[in-house]
Amino acid sequence: MKTVKKINSLQELKKFVEKLSRCLKGDEIILLKGNLAAGKTTFTKFLVSSIDPEAEDQVNSPTFSVMNEYETSKFPVYHIDLYRVKEFDFSDILGHGLVIIEWAEDNMIDIDSLPVIFIDFEITGENERILRITLRNGDYLKRCLK
Ligand SMILES: Nc1ncnc2c1ncn2[C@@H]1O[C@H](COP(=O)(O)OP(=O)(O)O)[C@@H](O)[C@H]1O
Ligand SMILES: [Mg+2]
Repeated sequence: MKTVKKINSLQELKKFVEKLSRCLKGDEIILLKGNLAAGKTTFTKFLVSSIDPEAEDQVNSPTFSVMNEYETSKFPVYHIDLYRVKEFDFSDILGHGLVIIEWAEDNMIDIDSLPVIFIDFEITGENERILRITLRNGDYLKRCLK
């Protein structure tokens, strides 16, 4: 499934992310692509906060650490930033929590057994973004990506 979502403000992004969070089971892979300041880390913060408001403070950009792990009341969240590292061994974490990868590429994880949500952020204005979304394997997520 492919869909395009126009986001006009931070508040709209938050609403979209809150809706998405309601469908998550905790083993999905979310691939985020987009230039600097496109909103990948902001998306991640909103998402972790929607999963567990008390977990939001843990979220920061893992540019230097490559991977941060956040504890939430529902499931672990692995937040990865590939800006500096192009290769990363995902084998230990896939399926063991929600995996969110910044600076991802569409086909970087070729797996049929887990749902993959790819989101390409385009900056179209100071507060406006276009999200191009591709979903693989997780039909139950469709209604939360509209
Ligand atoms: N609609 C929007 N969606 C995402 N970010 C937005 C939006 N409007 C403004 N911003 C701002 O753009 C910046 C995005 O930065 P960040 O999330 O760190 O991007 P990235 O991780 O992609 O480099 C933040 O300062 C955020 O407040
Ligand atoms: Mg970032």
